[in-house]
Amino acid sequence: MTKRMILDFSKRPLLLAPMADVTNPAFRMLCHEKGADFTFTEMINAAGFLNGDSFAMDRGISYDQKPYGIQIVGPSADSICEAAVGLEEKLRPAVIDINMGCPSPKILKDKCGAYLLNDTSVPPAIIAKLSENLKTPVTAKIRLYRETERTVALAKSLEDAGAAWISVHARTAAQGYSGKANWNAVEQIKENVSIPVILNGDIFTPQDLKQAIETGCDGFMIGRGAIGNPGIFEHMKKALSSDFEESETKDEAAFQEEFRQRILDFKRYCFLLETYNLYAHVNIKSHAQWFTKGLQHSKDMRLEIASLQKETRLRHLNDEEIAESRRVLAGQIVDVLEKYFEKIGK
Ligand SMILES: Cc1cc2nc3c(=O)[nH]c(=O)nc-3n(C[C@H](O)[C@H](O)[C@H](O)COP(=O)(O)O)c2cc1C
Repeated sequence: MTKRMILDFSKRPLLLAPMADVTNPAFRMLCHEKGADFTFTEMINAAGFLNGDSFAMDRGISYDQKPYGIQIVGPSADSICEAAVGLEEKLRPAVIDINMGCPSPKILKDKCGAYLLNDTSVPPAIIAKLSENLKTPVTAKIRLYRETERTVALAKSLEDAGAAWISVHARTAAQGYSGKANWNAVEQIKENVSIPVILNGDIFTPQDLKQAIETGCDGFMIGRGAIGNPGIFEHMKKALSSDFEESETKDEAAFQEEFRQRILDFKRYCFLLETYNLYAHVNIKSHAQWFTKGLQHSKDMRLEIASLQKETRLRHLNDEEIAESRRVLAGQIVDVLEKYFEKIGK
Protein backbone atom coordinates (compact mmCIF):
# COMPACT_ATOMS: atom_id res chain seq x y z
CA MET A 1 0.00 0.00 0.00
CA THR A 2 1.43 3.44 -0.93
CA LYS A 3 1.24 5.81 2.00
CA ARG A 4 1.33 9.57 1.65
CA MET A 5 4.48 11.24 2.96
CA ILE A 6 3.47 14.22 5.05
CA LEU A 7 6.75 16.03 5.55
CA ASP A 8 8.76 17.88 2.94
CA PHE A 9 12.23 16.64 3.74
CA SER A 10 13.83 18.94 1.16
CA LYS A 11 13.18 21.75 3.65
CA ARG A 12 15.14 20.09 6.49
CA PRO A 13 12.15 20.03 8.86
CA LEU A 14 12.47 20.60 12.58
CA LEU A 15 10.57 18.14 14.73
CA LEU A 16 9.56 18.25 18.37
CA ALA A 17 10.68 15.00 20.06
CA PRO A 18 8.13 12.87 21.89
CA MET A 19 8.54 13.63 25.61
CA ALA A 20 6.51 12.13 28.44
CA ASP A 21 4.95 14.80 30.68
CA VAL A 22 5.98 17.51 28.23
CA THR A 23 4.51 17.15 24.74
CA ASN A 24 0.85 17.35 25.70
CA PRO A 25 -1.63 18.69 23.11
CA ALA A 26 -1.32 22.32 24.30
CA PHE A 27 2.47 22.26 24.24
CA ARG A 28 2.49 20.68 20.79
CA MET A 29 0.09 23.28 19.50
CA LEU A 30 2.31 26.03 20.85
CA CYS A 31 5.37 24.46 19.20
CA HIS A 32 3.50 24.31 15.88
CA GLU A 33 2.70 28.00 16.28
CA LYS A 34 6.36 28.70 16.99
CA GLY A 35 7.65 26.99 13.88
CA ALA A 36 7.93 23.26 14.62
CA ASP A 37 7.24 21.40 11.37
CA PHE A 38 6.08 18.26 13.10
CA THR A 39 5.45 17.17 16.66
CA PHE A 40 5.02 13.91 18.52
CA THR A 41 2.76 13.03 21.40
CA GLU A 42 4.09 11.72 24.67
CA MET A 43 4.52 7.96 24.48
CA ILE A 44 1.16 6.23 24.76
CA ASN A 45 1.17 2.91 26.49
CA ALA A 46 -0.43 0.28 24.23
CA ALA A 47 -1.94 -1.64 27.15
CA GLY A 48 -3.22 1.57 28.75
CA PHE A 49 -5.01 2.54 25.56
CA LEU A 50 -6.42 -0.95 25.06
CA ASN A 51 -7.70 -0.95 28.65
CA GLY A 52 -9.65 2.22 27.94
CA ASP A 53 -7.37 4.51 29.99
CA SER A 54 -8.74 7.96 29.19
CA PHE A 55 -5.35 9.49 29.94
CA ALA A 56 -3.94 7.61 26.91
CA MET A 57 -6.59 9.16 24.68
CA ASP A 58 -5.99 12.62 26.16
CA ARG A 59 -2.30 12.35 25.34
CA GLY A 60 -2.93 11.26 21.78
CA ILE A 61 -5.45 13.85 20.75
CA SER A 62 -4.59 16.93 18.69
CA TYR A 63 -6.60 20.13 18.55
CA ASP A 64 -5.01 22.00 15.68
CA GLN A 65 -5.14 20.82 12.11
CA LYS A 66 -1.37 20.31 11.87
CA PRO A 67 0.04 16.89 11.03
CA TYR A 68 1.45 15.14 14.07
CA GLY A 69 2.66 11.75 15.17
CA ILE A 70 1.36 9.50 17.90
CA GLN A 71 4.05 7.52 19.66
CA ILE A 72 3.22 4.10 21.05
CA VAL A 73 5.22 2.18 23.61
CA GLY A 74 4.50 -1.52 23.99
CA PRO A 75 6.11 -4.94 24.40
CA SER A 76 5.09 -6.87 21.29
CA ALA A 77 3.99 -6.54 17.68
CA ASP A 78 0.51 -7.78 18.58
CA SER A 79 -0.27 -5.33 21.39
CA ILE A 80 1.35 -2.38 19.61
CA CYS A 81 -0.57 -3.19 16.44
CA GLU A 82 -3.90 -3.53 18.20
CA ALA A 83 -3.40 -0.16 19.91
CA ALA A 84 -2.18 1.43 16.67
CA VAL A 85 -5.26 0.30 14.75
CA GLY A 86 -7.50 1.79 17.46
CA LEU A 87 -5.57 5.05 17.66
CA GLU A 88 -5.53 5.39 13.88
CA GLU A 89 -9.28 4.98 13.75
CA LYS A 90 -10.05 7.33 16.64
CA LEU A 91 -7.48 10.08 16.21
CA ARG A 92 -6.21 9.94 12.60
CA PRO A 93 -2.61 11.02 13.23
CA ALA A 94 -0.32 11.62 10.24
CA VAL A 95 2.20 9.10 11.53
CA ILE A 96 2.38 6.33 14.09
CA ASP A 97 5.78 6.05 15.72
CA ILE A 98 7.10 3.19 17.79
CA ASN A 99 9.23 3.85 20.82
CA MET A 100 12.29 1.60 20.51
CA GLY A 101 14.63 3.70 22.60
CA CYS A 102 13.29 4.57 26.03
CA PRO A 103 15.84 3.30 28.60
CA SER A 104 13.91 4.08 31.78
CA PRO A 105 13.95 1.15 34.24
CA LYS A 106 10.16 0.99 34.45
CA ILE A 107 9.78 0.78 30.66
CA LEU A 108 12.58 -1.82 30.36
CA LYS A 109 10.97 -3.89 33.11
CA ASP A 110 7.80 -4.00 31.01
CA LYS A 111 9.91 -5.21 28.04
CA CYS A 112 9.17 -2.03 26.09
CA GLY A 113 11.19 0.86 24.64
CA ALA A 114 14.90 0.08 24.28
CA TYR A 115 14.22 -3.50 25.44
CA LEU A 116 12.89 -4.15 21.93
CA LEU A 117 16.41 -3.60 20.56
CA ASN A 118 17.78 -6.60 22.49
CA ASP A 119 16.69 -8.96 19.73
CA THR A 120 17.35 -7.42 16.31
CA SER A 121 14.58 -9.46 14.69
CA VAL A 122 11.88 -7.82 16.87
CA PRO A 123 11.93 -4.17 15.64
CA PRO A 124 11.47 -5.05 11.93
CA ALA A 125 8.78 -7.59 12.82
CA ILE A 126 6.83 -4.86 14.64
CA ILE A 127 7.18 -2.40 11.76
CA ALA A 128 6.21 -5.07 9.20
CA LYS A 129 3.06 -5.95 11.11
CA LEU A 130 2.03 -2.33 11.50
CA SER A 131 2.79 -1.51 7.86
CA GLU A 132 0.50 -4.32 6.79
CA ASN A 133 -2.33 -3.34 9.11
CA LEU A 134 -2.37 0.45 9.05
CA LYS A 135 -3.16 3.07 6.44
CA THR A 136 -1.00 5.54 8.38
CA PRO A 137 2.76 5.68 7.72
CA VAL A 138 4.73 3.97 10.47
CA THR A 139 8.03 5.26 11.86
CA ALA A 140 10.48 4.08 14.50
CA LYS A 141 12.50 5.98 17.07
CA ILE A 142 15.63 4.09 17.97
CA ARG A 143 18.86 4.49 19.88
CA LEU A 144 22.32 3.33 18.79
CA TYR A 145 23.96 -0.02 19.42
CA ARG A 146 27.57 0.19 20.58
CA GLU A 147 28.67 -1.02 17.14
CA THR A 148 27.61 1.33 14.36
CA GLU A 149 27.47 -1.52 11.81
CA ARG A 150 24.83 -3.19 13.92
CA THR A 151 22.75 0.00 14.06
CA VAL A 152 23.09 0.41 10.29
CA ALA A 153 21.85 -3.17 9.84
CA LEU A 154 18.90 -2.44 12.13
CA ALA A 155 18.04 0.71 10.17
CA LYS A 156 18.13 -1.25 6.90
CA SER A 157 15.87 -3.91 8.36
CA LEU A 158 13.37 -1.23 9.45
CA GLU A 159 13.45 0.25 5.97
CA ASP A 160 12.82 -3.17 4.41
CA ALA A 161 9.96 -3.74 6.84
CA GLY A 162 8.21 -0.58 5.62
CA ALA A 163 9.23 2.23 7.99
CA ALA A 164 8.44 5.63 6.45
CA TRP A 165 11.37 7.19 8.32
CA ILE A 166 13.48 6.58 11.38
CA SER A 167 14.46 8.96 14.14
CA VAL A 168 17.72 8.21 15.89
CA HIS A 169 18.65 9.44 19.34
CA ALA A 170 22.40 9.27 18.87
CA ARG A 171 23.27 7.50 22.10
CA THR A 172 23.08 3.91 23.25
CA ALA A 173 20.34 2.99 25.70
CA ALA A 174 23.00 2.25 28.33
CA GLN A 175 24.30 5.81 27.98
CA GLY A 176 21.01 7.36 29.04
CA TYR A 177 21.82 11.04 28.53
CA SER A 178 25.50 10.84 29.37
CA GLY A 179 28.31 11.61 26.96
CA LYS A 180 27.92 13.48 23.73
CA ALA A 181 25.47 12.35 21.07
CA ASN A 182 27.31 10.44 18.32
CA TRP A 183 26.10 12.18 15.17
CA ASN A 184 28.73 10.40 13.13
CA ALA A 185 26.92 7.08 13.66
CA VAL A 186 23.67 8.65 12.43
CA GLU A 187 25.47 10.01 9.37
CA GLN A 188 26.53 6.45 8.56
CA ILE A 189 22.96 5.24 8.90
CA LYS A 190 21.84 8.01 6.56
CA GLU A 191 24.42 6.90 3.98
CA ASN A 192 23.09 3.36 4.01
CA VAL A 193 19.31 3.70 3.80
CA SER A 194 17.04 5.47 1.36
CA ILE A 195 14.22 6.43 3.74
CA PRO A 196 14.57 9.77 5.57
CA VAL A 197 16.70 9.75 8.71
CA ILE A 198 15.93 12.19 11.52
CA LEU A 199 18.87 13.15 13.69
CA ASN A 200 18.15 13.55 17.40
CA GLY A 201 20.34 14.33 20.39
CA ASP A 202 22.04 17.48 21.69
CA ILE A 203 20.66 20.05 19.27
CA PHE A 204 20.31 23.12 21.47
CA THR A 205 21.58 26.11 19.50
CA PRO A 206 21.56 27.33 15.89
CA GLN A 207 25.27 26.46 15.79
CA ASP A 208 24.43 22.87 16.79
CA LEU A 209 21.77 22.72 14.11
CA LYS A 210 24.13 24.02 11.43
CA GLN A 211 26.61 21.29 12.33
CA ALA A 212 23.86 18.67 12.47
CA ILE A 213 22.79 19.62 8.94
CA GLU A 214 26.29 18.78 7.73
CA THR A 215 25.58 15.11 8.50
CA GLY A 216 23.22 15.14 5.50
CA CYS A 217 20.31 13.88 7.60
CA ASP A 218 16.81 14.74 6.45
CA GLY A 219 15.22 16.22 9.55
CA PHE A 220 16.26 17.38 12.99
CA MET A 221 14.48 16.52 16.19
CA ILE A 222 14.69 18.68 19.28
CA GLY A 223 13.82 17.45 22.76
CA ARG A 224 15.25 19.07 25.87
CA GLY A 225 16.05 22.31 24.06
CA ALA A 226 12.32 22.89 23.53
CA ILE A 227 11.23 22.19 27.12
CA GLY A 228 9.97 25.52 28.48
CA ASN A 229 11.28 27.11 25.31
CA PRO A 230 8.92 26.48 22.38
CA GLY A 231 10.39 29.59 20.72
CA ILE A 232 13.49 27.53 19.92
CA PHE A 233 11.96 26.50 16.59
CA GLU A 234 11.42 30.09 15.47
CA HIS A 235 14.86 31.04 16.70
CA MET A 236 16.52 28.17 14.82
CA LYS A 237 14.67 28.95 11.62
CA LYS A 238 15.54 32.62 11.80
CA ALA A 239 19.16 31.72 12.31
CA LEU A 240 19.16 29.37 9.32
CA SER A 241 17.26 31.56 6.92
CA SER A 242 19.68 34.49 6.93
CA ASP A 243 23.28 35.41 7.50
CA PHE A 244 22.28 35.94 11.10
CA GLU A 245 25.21 35.12 13.35
CA GLU A 246 24.30 34.77 16.99
CA SER A 247 26.76 36.78 19.02
CA GLU A 248 28.46 35.05 21.91
CA THR A 249 27.30 37.69 24.36
CA LYS A 250 23.73 38.94 24.51
CA ASP A 251 23.12 42.63 25.09
CA GLU A 252 20.57 43.93 27.58
CA ALA A 253 17.92 44.44 24.90
CA ALA A 254 18.28 40.83 23.73
CA PHE A 255 17.84 39.54 27.30
CA GLN A 256 14.75 41.68 27.75
CA GLU A 257 13.24 40.57 24.47
CA GLU A 258 13.85 36.91 25.31
CA PHE A 259 12.25 37.37 28.73
CA ARG A 260 9.24 39.22 27.28
CA GLN A 261 8.73 36.54 24.66
CA ARG A 262 8.98 33.74 27.21
CA ILE A 263 6.24 35.34 29.32
CA LEU A 264 4.04 35.66 26.24
CA ASP A 265 4.67 32.00 25.40
CA PHE A 266 3.85 30.92 28.94
CA LYS A 267 0.60 32.92 28.90
CA ARG A 268 -0.33 31.40 25.56
CA TYR A 269 0.44 27.96 26.96
CA CYS A 270 -1.88 28.61 29.91
CA PHE A 271 -4.57 29.84 27.53
CA LEU A 272 -4.31 26.60 25.52
CA LEU A 273 -4.39 24.46 28.67
CA GLU A 274 -7.55 26.28 29.69
CA THR A 275 -9.15 26.14 26.25
CA TYR A 276 -8.65 22.40 25.89
CA ASN A 277 -9.36 21.57 29.50
CA LEU A 278 -5.89 20.19 30.18
CA TYR A 279 -4.96 21.78 33.49
CA ALA A 280 -5.83 18.61 35.39
CA HIS A 281 -3.18 16.69 33.41
CA VAL A 282 -0.29 19.13 33.56
CA ASN A 283 1.90 19.96 36.52
CA ILE A 284 1.88 23.68 35.79
CA LYS A 285 4.46 24.41 38.44
CA SER A 286 7.20 22.28 36.83
CA HIS A 287 6.28 23.59 33.41
CA ALA A 288 6.56 27.16 34.69
CA GLN A 289 9.98 26.39 36.19
CA TRP A 290 11.11 25.18 32.78
CA PHE A 291 9.91 28.40 31.17
CA THR A 292 12.31 30.40 33.37
CA LYS A 293 15.34 28.45 32.07
CA GLY A 294 18.16 30.75 30.96
CA LEU A 295 16.37 33.97 31.89
CA GLN A 296 17.81 36.63 34.18
CA HIS A 297 16.73 36.05 37.81
CA SER A 298 15.84 32.48 36.87
CA LYS A 299 16.94 31.10 40.24
CA ASP A 300 14.92 33.64 42.25
CA MET A 301 11.87 33.07 40.07
CA ARG A 302 12.13 29.32 40.54
CA LEU A 303 12.34 29.69 44.31
CA GLU A 304 9.36 32.00 44.36
CA ILE A 305 7.32 29.74 42.08
CA ALA A 306 8.26 26.73 44.23
CA SER A 307 6.91 28.50 47.31
CA LEU A 308 3.44 28.90 45.75
CA GLN A 309 0.67 26.30 46.35
CA LYS A 310 1.92 22.79 47.06
CA GLU A 311 1.02 20.03 44.56
CA THR A 312 0.68 17.53 47.44
CA ARG A 313 -2.46 19.37 48.55
CA LEU A 314 -4.13 18.24 45.31
CA ARG A 315 -4.12 14.56 46.22
CA HIS A 316 -7.69 14.39 47.44
CA LEU A 317 -9.26 16.58 44.80
CA ASN A 318 -11.17 15.55 41.69
CA ASP A 319 -10.06 16.59 38.20
CA GLU A 320 -12.27 19.67 38.16
CA GLU A 321 -10.92 20.86 41.50
CA ILE A 322 -7.32 20.15 40.49
CA ALA A 323 -7.82 22.15 37.30
CA GLU A 324 -9.28 25.07 39.24
CA SER A 325 -6.41 25.03 41.70
CA ARG A 326 -3.82 24.99 38.89
CA ARG A 327 -5.65 27.76 37.03
CA VAL A 328 -5.26 29.98 40.11
CA LEU A 329 -1.64 28.92 40.45
CA ALA A 330 -0.94 29.80 36.79
CA GLY A 331 -2.21 33.33 37.45
CA GLN A 332 0.12 33.66 40.45
CA ILE A 333 3.03 32.38 38.38
CA VAL A 334 2.39 34.97 35.67
CA ASP A 335 2.50 37.65 38.40
CA VAL A 336 5.90 36.36 39.53
CA LEU A 337 7.27 36.36 35.97
CA GLU A 338 5.98 39.89 35.32
CA LYS A 339 7.39 41.18 38.59
CA TYR A 340 10.89 40.01 37.65
CA PHE A 341 10.49 41.28 34.10
CA GLU A 342 9.83 44.76 35.47
CA LYS A 343 13.00 44.48 37.56
CA ILE A 344 15.23 43.91 34.55
CA GLY A 345 13.67 46.88 32.75
CA LYS A 346 14.86 49.19 35.53
C1 LIG B 1 11.32 14.62 29.91
C2 LIG B 1 11.63 13.70 28.75
C3 LIG B 1 10.68 12.78 28.34
C4 LIG B 1 10.93 11.94 27.26
N1 LIG B 1 9.96 11.08 26.84
C5 LIG B 1 10.14 10.36 25.70
C6 LIG B 1 9.09 9.60 25.13
O1 LIG B 1 7.95 9.58 25.63
N2 LIG B 1 9.36 8.89 24.00
C7 LIG B 1 10.62 8.90 23.40
O2 LIG B 1 10.81 8.24 22.37
N3 LIG B 1 11.61 9.62 23.92
C8 LIG B 1 11.41 10.38 25.02
N4 LIG B 1 12.41 11.18 25.48
C9 LIG B 1 13.66 11.28 24.72
C10 LIG B 1 13.57 12.45 23.71
O3 LIG B 1 12.57 12.20 22.76
C11 LIG B 1 14.91 12.64 22.97
O4 LIG B 1 15.20 11.47 22.25
C12 LIG B 1 16.07 12.93 23.91
O5 LIG B 1 15.72 13.90 24.88
C13 LIG B 1 17.32 13.41 23.15
O6 LIG B 1 17.06 14.59 22.46
P1 LIG B 1 17.57 16.03 23.02
O7 LIG B 1 19.06 15.94 23.20
O8 LIG B 1 17.17 17.03 21.97
O9 LIG B 1 16.88 16.24 24.33
C14 LIG B 1 12.18 12.00 26.58
C15 LIG B 1 13.14 12.92 27.01
C16 LIG B 1 12.87 13.77 28.07
C17 LIG B 1 13.93 14.77 28.49
